[in-house]
Amino acid sequence: MDLTDIGIEEGQKYEGIYTTMSRDGVKNAAPIGIVCKGKDKLGCRLFVGTTTLKNIMETRKYVVNITFDPINFANSTIGNLDIEEFTDDEDIAILKNAEAYVICDVTDIRKMDPIKDHVTSNGEAYIISSDVVKIVKNNPCAKALNRGVFALLECLTNYTRLDLVSKEQQDYFVGRFNENNRMIKRVSGPDTIKAMEILKKSMIEKGFDVE
Ligand SMILES: Cc1cc2nc3c(=O)[nH]c(=O)nc-3n(C[C@H](O)[C@H](O)[C@H](O)COP(=O)(O)O)c2cc1C
Repeated sequence: MDLTDIGIEEGQKYEGIYTTMSRDGVKNAAPIGIVCKGKDKLGCRLFVGTTTLKNIMETRKYVVNITFDPINFANSTIGNLDIEEFTDDEDIAILKNAEAYVICDVTDIRKMDPIKDHVTSNGEAYIISSDVVKIVKNNPCAKALNRGVFALLECLTNYTRLDLVSKEQQDYFVGRFNENNRMIKRVSGPDTIKAMEILKKSMIEKGFDVE
């Protein structure tokens, strides 16, 4: 089995819940982006201050959980998950209800130049590179989440309402389109990017000033 068996393709970005352990055995969970660097290579960018980065620096090991559980996404963003959400394994942190999980060994931790992007003006972050050690599928249909598809659906539903709403709301939808298109070009595959191009063409034909 390799990463393509859980829908992870080279060059695209996905979202998962990373589970890690501190040196003294405390389990932690956090949603983090997944960068595919090959059939058995993953990477991520971790901001300084996250427990995930601290734990990975301590143990050089992490698990990427493929899950669609909205409650776990919310709780692990805001804080940590209850210990009941983890399996009973004592030497590794894994989510009980993961559709699939990927055990990773870190091969490189590199400090990034200070980041100036759409998110932060001076974010301090590290790039983590890792080898995939093991992939386990609890659900045979498990597929990693790519948020570009959800953004496309938002743009499509907004599009169907363009003729029904006020000028102010139209401007808001155009802004959402521009932002989602920027994100989709960064995280999605050719089909989602092409779908946005089709939508963009139709919006321009309707007279909207999209970027
Ligand atoms: C979908 C999603 C993706 C995220 N991706 C990243 C990421 O790639 N890198 C990062 O440092 N933080 C990312 N975050 C923010 C962290 O999840 C957040 O800072 C979290 O509180 C860190 O938890 P921790 O301190 O337990 O590691 C993401 C959040 C969400 C909701």
